[in-house]
This record gives sequence, structure tokens and C-alpha cells, in this order.
Amino acid sequence: MDKGYLELIKDICSWLRFQRSLGVEFVAGSPEISRFLSSADLHDPTNKNISGRYLFAGRSRKGIPGDSVPISSAHTLQGLKSVVERCKRCDLHRSRTNVVFGEGPEDARLLVVGEAPGRQEDQEGRPFVGVSGELLTKMLRAINISRTECFITSVVKCRPPGNRTPDQHEIAKCAPFLFRQIELIKPSFILALGLVAAHTLLKIDSPLKSLRGKWHRLGNARVMITYHPAYLLRFGGIHQKNLKREAWHDLQMLEKEYVASKST
Ligand code: URA
Repeated sequence: MDKGYLELIKDICSWLRFQRSLGVEFVAGSPEISRFLSSADLHDPTNKNISGRYLFAGRSRKGIPGDSVPISSAHTLQGLKSVVERCKRCDLHRSRTNVVFGEGPEDARLLVVGEAPGRQEDQEGRPFVGVSGELLTKMLRAINISRTECFITSVVKCRPPGNRTPDQHEIAKCAPFLFRQIELIKPSFILALGLVAAHTLLKIDSPLKSLRGKWHRLGNARVMITYHPAYLLRFGGIHQKNLKREAWHDLQMLEKEYVASKST
């Protein structure tokens, strides 16, 4: 971004702060201004505060406290975590006990992405600590990867009531946090568990069967898609056996490249 452009953005920000100090809550936007400002926060395309019809000048009585912090201003995982913990972008904040930001090393080579926290995760504020988590830990162990060497998170950071699948609005509001996590962690590999993770990361909506078992790319990361452990647990008998065999194939592909990239 060139210097003049940055200066202009700083001027606009200080003018907005001044307006806010006067008690102004909204200033009318125009398509030109919105277009210009929306390019200033590329990591947060859902941030209506700056790209919408109106520019939000800060906290308002009707506004959402904490929602005006741009995600791109979080330069560390800890900083991003504190933004996410104050998030009220969708209704899931009303029923959550804890935000489940994710856990693992800041420089993990492997990022594991699930769908959304379940009941136990919501209670503990940690990802994959319930029955699906037990299976995930076993799946990783089977390919000689310990849980503690990966960063584990989910697309949606708050539990949908009754463990329902998160809806499109919830996913759209929460996905920018995941993308910022990826920018900060810079993983070489991403293991996407299930459809919600696969579709959100790759921005496509093909069936999981056609996405799993091959490599995809997201920036510098190689992405492997496989079944969500909860999905594997849903079935019994021969169906479960077949799904597990497919998941095992995906995991072995991951192990091969993960080990090979360690030695380079
Ligand atoms: N399922 C997920 O997708 N994420 C969790 O954290 C737990 C279960």
C-alpha cells in the first residue's frame, strides 16, 4: 500500500474519532467512499462498519461493543483471541458459556479445523475435548502427530445450541477470525474436518466425497480434507468401516507429506 493512501486512511480514522468524540454515531457513506474504505480492510469482508451504507463511528447505544475492532489490527494470536472473546457479531454469543478460540503452538506446522464447538468444548473453552475430540486425538496419533504439536480450532468459535450445524450467517461472521488465525500461524498444512471446514476454507460447495483424498491449496498451505470425527461416529457397521478406511487414506497422505516437509 503506498504512503499517500496510508496517510489518507489515517486522516479518515482521526476524523471519525473526532466525530465520535462529538457524539456522532453514523456518517452517511457513498458508494465511492465505501469502495475506497472496504479495500482498507481486506481481511474482514463482512465488516459492515466500514464497507456498508453507513460508516460506524464507534460504540453506539444500539451498536455492538467490541465489534468495531478490525480483525487485521490483531497482530498476535493472543490479540486476536481477545477480539474473538468479545465478539457479538451473531446470536451465538447469547447462549455461549465460553468462546472456543482454539489452542496449540503459535507456529504450528499443522492447523486442524473443525466445524463448531460442542457442549463440552463450550463448557471448557477448549476445542475437541468431547467424544469427537477423543477420536481426533486417536486419528492424529495413528499418523504419529501429537495433539500438542498442532493448532486445533473450528470455523465457528461459539457453540450452536443443540449442536446444530452453524448457519451461513454465523459462518460468514466468524470465518474472518479463522482466516486471520491462518495468516498469523502460517501453517504449512491444514487438515479440514468435514463439509463446513472444507467449504469455508476453499470457498466451494462440492460434496465432501469429491474433495477428500487429494491436495488443495490455500495460500502457502496444503489442505487435506477428510470426514469430521463426529460424522465417523454417527454410523455403525460396514458404513462406518468404509468411512474410516477413507479417512485413514486421507490421513496417510497427510502423514507422508508432513514427514517429508520436516526434513527439508
Ligand atoms: N467439533 C468441532 O468441530 N469442533 C470442536 O471444537 C468440537 C467438536
